Amino acid sequence: MTDKYAVIGNPIAHSKSPQIHQMFALQTGQDISYEAILAPLDGFASTIARLRNGAYKGCSVTVPFKFEAFQLATQLSKRAQAAQAVNTLKFDGGTIFGDNTDGSGLISDIQQNLNFHLKARRTLLMGAGGAAYGVILPLLGTGSKLSVVNRTFENAQRLAEVFLSQGNIEIFRYSELGKQAFDCIINATSSSIAGELPPLPHGIFAPGALAYDMMYGSETPFLKFAREHGAAVVSDGLGMLVEQAAEAFFVWRGVRPETAPVIAVLRKQQ
Ligand code: ATR
Repeated sequence: MTDKYAVIGNPIAHSKSPQIHQMFALQTGQDISYEAILAPLDGFASTIARLRNGAYKGCSVTVPFKFEAFQLATQLSKRAQAAQAVNTLKFDGGTIFGDNTDGSGLISDIQQNLNFHLKARRTLLMGAGGAAYGVILPLLGTGSKLSVVNRTFENAQRLAEVFLSQGNIEIFRYSELGKQAFDCIINATSSSIAGELPPLPHGIFAPGALAYDMMYGSETPFLKFAREHGAAVVSDGLGMLVEQAAEAFFVWRGVRPETAPVIAVLRKQQ
């Protein structure tokens, strides 16, 4: 019997997740279906109840429901606990297992696909909201020297406190970045959605630096700035999207799909 999965979000119409998981299923010979489901903004829990009653095996969770999914889960992975957000749910009898594969997806894309190794490199994460929380623990796990900059400094302070026991995080205001240079700068802010550029100073990219935007699609103001200010490699977040999906597929099916051919198909569609 075909096992059913879905992605839940609002909006959801443009999600690439059904296409990605269908490609994974074909490639690995797994008998699954995967659809996009729009949940009303006040109807996440009832949508999950409907899926569980309908014998779905799990779902992906996207904006704006990752925190609600975290609260709804009856069991959490360590990385979901750290992120305080869940992007992958697995239904198993009475258990709702919550995981977060976003950070792992980011690290795989940077270190494996882009072949950029973070150990001992100076990494600057821009943002201290949900997207940033999701990737902090895996970033610390690479052995990178991690700094966080945020528009509202208090939010960066809170983030550093939350992760204090996991590793050292240096925090900055944008106005304090003047004399700093970084090997890797990751945009985890929502600034790109508004077409805005966080106020980065000139000279912020060290020689050979990587600029990574967790958004994907058309070139963001941050990636344009990076290209024009000395970043050696610039990347959008399409690879992260596919890698986090592959990790979710592994959580559900115990099988790890190949990501490169899937990324290549999606790149052609961009
Ligand atoms: P998400 O879940 O996408 O992370 P969020 O939790 O609302 O969304 O967090 C958005 C992040 O982007 C925050 O760190 C926000 O900074 P503030 O804490 O000061 O609000 C950051 N952000 C949004 N627009 C920005 C901009 N134009 N320049 C710099 N940072 C911005």
